[in-house]
Order: sequence, then structure tokens, then C-alpha cells
Amino acid sequence: MDFPMDPTTLLLRWAHVLAAIIAMGGLMFARFALLPALSDLDAQTRTAIHESIRRRWLPWVIGAITVLLASGLANFLLFNARVKAEGWGDGLWMSQTSYHALFGAKFLLALVIFYFASALVGRGAGTQWVRNDRAKWLSITLGLSLAVVLLSGWMRQLHTGQNKGPGDGGVRINSSDSRDSGVGMPVDPAAQPRYQDGDAGSKFRDTDDAPGERVK
Ligand code: HEM
Repeated sequence: MDFPMDPTTLLLRWAHVLAAIIAMGGLMFARFALLPALSDLDAQTRTAIHESIRRRWLPWVIGAITVLLASGLANFLLFNARVKAEGWGDGLWMSQTSYHALFGAKFLLALVIFYFASALVGRGAGTQWVRNDRAKWLSITLGLSLAVVLLSGWMRQLHTGQNKGPGDGGVRINSSDSRDSGVGMPVDPAAQPRYQDGDAGSKFRDTDDAPGERVK
């Protein structure tokens, strides 16, 4: 059996999403579990615990940033190349959908997040002001991360739409028809398609400029 999807983009996706989960999970835990728990302790004990955590968590933060940057840039370059090669929207797809602008905003936000995430586990005098008010800067970094995840989902949905059918490179989930009610479920011949014209995929995919065929 052929592997049903492009392994490079799948690996990049796994790496990107896992790194984002690790980085954001660490921020959530620090803000809403660790800091409140430490507030019951005296200042000396708190400093000792922060230092002990810092040494252990720093490699994870650096690793997550490296993976996010590498996989994100690779994702973007591969996608850009495909849009150009296939002439999506006569080569205007990126500006028609504001994908470039969204990517630019996301990239800048990500750099700010990386700065604060590193400062929170750093020990340089220049970033001490961040660690002097951990609760505030953790909350701000988490808010920015949420914005980045929302932007990313938006960017993705611009070209994948709600679902990908077998006619557009997605995986067929039933050999007889894509209008089934789930994996391995029998097809009801009277069933309507799950998505009617106009609500399957992004607006772009509904136009004649779409690179793939419409999924009926
Ligand atoms: C705070 C750091 C970041 C977070 C939390 C984050 C999160 C995400 C998430 C959740 C997705 C959607 C993945 C999916 O549905 O498969 C995504 C996709 C993506 N990310 Fe990031 N990301 C971050 C940093 C970056 C950076 C630094 C870059 C570029 C250098 C980047 C470029 C991309 C690209 C190109 C996509 C694909 C969007 C699409 O499908 O069109 N990301 N990111």
C-alpha cells in the first residue's frame, strides 16, 4: 500500500505542532500551577526552586524554539513554492487571501514570544526585569501564543478548507463513496453530502482558479 500523504510535510507538521505544545504547555503550567504554588513559600526557597527548574527547562525551550523556527520556515518555503509552481489564483493567491501578511504578523509575534520564553528561563542581567514580574510576563507571553495559534489555524484553513476529500489529495475514508458517516460505516444512499456548495473549503477553493478539483 502506498503511503497516503507526503512524508516530509507530515514530519514537519508533527515537529511544529509538538514543539508548540511543549512550549505553550510549559508556559501554562508555570503561570497557573507553579507560580501560585510557590507563592506560599519563602523568598529563598522560591529562588532555589526557580534556579533548579531553570537549568532543567532551558534545553526544552531552546529545542522548541529551534524546531519551531526550522519547521515553520521549511513549511512556509515549501508552501510558497507550491503556490507559485501551480499558479494558484494566477500567482496572486498569497495576496488575495492575505496569507503573506498573516505569516508576517505571526512571525513577528513568534519572535517576541521567543524573547520572553528565553528571558523567563535565562539568567542574564539584561533580562532580569522579565523575571522580576514573572506572572505578568508569563500572562502576556501566553496571550501572544494564543494569538499565534489562532493566526496559524486561520492560515491553514485558507488552503485546506474544512476537510480534504479524496479528489483533492486527502485520504479516502471509504472505498465506495466519500459520503459515508465515518470510517468503516456503511454508506446511506439517501444521505446528502456533508458539505453543500459554498460551505466546503475556503472561498478560494470554490472558485474556478482552485488548483484541485472541487469535492462533490
Ligand atoms: C510561538 C511559536 C509558534 C506556535 C505556537 C505555532 C503554532 C502553529 C500551529 C498550531 C500551526 C498549525 C499546524 C497544523 O494545523 O498543522 C502552525 C502552522 C504553521 N506555522 Fe507555526 N507556530 C509558531 C512559530 C512559527 C514560526 C516561527 C514560523 C515560521 C518561521 C511558523 C510557520 C508556520 C507555518 C508556515 C505554518 C503552516 C500554516 C499553514 O498551514 O498554512 N510558525 N503553527
